[in-house]
Amino acid sequence: MTVYQSGVIFANVDTNDSECWSLAKYQQRGGYTALRQILTEKITPDTIIAQMKASGLRGRGGAGFPTGLKWSFMPRALPIAKYIVCNSDEGEPGTFKDLDILKYNPHALIEGMIIAGYTMNANVGYNYIHGEIFEIYELFEQALVEARNAGLLGKNILNSGFDFELFAHHGYGAYICGEETALLDSIEGKKGQPRFKPPFPASFGLYGKPTTINNTETLASVPFIIKDGAEKFQQQGIPNNGGTKLFSISGHVNRPGNYEIPLGTPFSKLLEMAGGMKDGKPLKAVIPGGSSAPVLPGKIMLDCTMDYDSIAKAGSMLGSGAVIVMNEDVCMVKALERLAYFYHEESCGQCTPCREGTGWLYDIIHRIEHGQGRHGDLDLLESIGNQMAGRTICALADAAVFPVRSFTKHFNDEFVYHIEHKKCKVQHKWC
Ligand SMILES: Cc1cc2nc3c(=O)[nH]c(=O)nc-3n(C[C@H](O)[C@H](O)[C@H](O)COP(=O)(O)O)c2cc1C
Ligand code: SF4
Repeated sequence: MTVYQSGVIFANVDTNDSECWSLAKYQQRGGYTALRQILTEKITPDTIIAQMKASGLRGRGGAGFPTGLKWSFMPRALPIAKYIVCNSDEGEPGTFKDLDILKYNPHALIEGMIIAGYTMNANVGYNYIHGEIFEIYELFEQALVEARNAGLLGKNILNSGFDFELFAHHGYGAYICGEETALLDSIEGKKGQPRFKPPFPASFGLYGKPTTINNTETLASVPFIIKDGAEKFQQQGIPNNGGTKLFSISGHVNRPGNYEIPLGTPFSKLLEMAGGMKDGKPLKAVIPGGSSAPVLPGKIMLDCTMDYDSIAKAGSMLGSGAVIVMNEDVCMVKALERLAYFYHEESCGQCTPCREGTGWLYDIIHRIEHGQGRHGDLDLLESIGNQMAGRTICALADAAVFPVRSFTKHFNDEFVYHIEHKKCKVQHKWC
């Protein structure tokens, strides 16, 4: 199910129309107006970056880094190749929003990437698409052909003298290839493993050249900001949290799906839009920003608004906007065991604390879940977590530790019960 409440990326997109993705339909919705305006009026890159900053757009890939600021880091004047890369890898459990952008509105992303290329003086872009959605990759290729045939991509775009070529590249489904430097290695044909930073991609990115990497949703928001203005975008959200955000809501709700809503919307409203709790059962917990974000008890979430600052204040992260809702029947030990297995499986293995630590975390949680937990296991989990977080090349190790810390903090009684009674407190059917 896909519901678009208000409009930045999905304004006027009729997702029931099988052609809504096409160039013709995109142009009927006002698509490519922003690009035409920039190229005909020769709007300067500095003006565009100022607009991006004023819009308050924060990266939608997870960290929420201000997009205008990131764009200003690109050494535009350097007379060497520079690249724009879009991160459509979307491997974070619970997240399925970029997929809908690519499926229903790919030209918004293409237009956003061309504008990014123009602004940062880059002539080549790549869109790295998750490998397990191959039909979407093929659709994106079709959209690229349409844009090329219409003179919107390639040499001398719309007779402006500006050249920009854009290529689609698909991965093979490894979560780690969503980490920006692993993604770059993967495009280069290498094994997808994170590189140590610094140097950051803005100075040493794809093929060692300056590169700006943004998430699909981030780049697809750009045409609206140029066409309708930074202020209008900003005002859709709240201060420091400009615009709308796509939330992928899943779990125990009646209508799971993607919802585009203004940042700052109360969580209770989002839950209501998603049809409320399935079977009317009480809300127990929510992971508000994808599986890497700390879990929060339902009663804390009900006081939150859906924006970066409110969720951070409550002790979690808005992350990718994947909202995983759990009812009172969920065993938190079982849920954490599943997450710990994921991170153990997806660790690329370069760093010892991550390679070994994710395995240890999983083994300990697995034994607690299976009635073999030992006194001292919770302290052991904490100690292992302390030796992992912040001590590795990329943030996957932190992503593995956050759920462990938050689950054992907020639902400590369930872990203790599992250890002491060798069985599940909530009598979860899978335990
Ligand atoms: C393990 C790991 C996986 C990630 N996966 C994704 C992903 O699937 N999509 C994404 O946009 N960013 C992902 N990121 C964040 C990217 O490294 C990067 O920060 C982001 O693409 C930047 O885009 P933004 O500034 O528009 O948010 C991941 C980071 C880590 C550490
Ligand atoms: S933290 Fe984990 S996933 Fe990231 S580079 Fe190190 S081993 Fe690989």
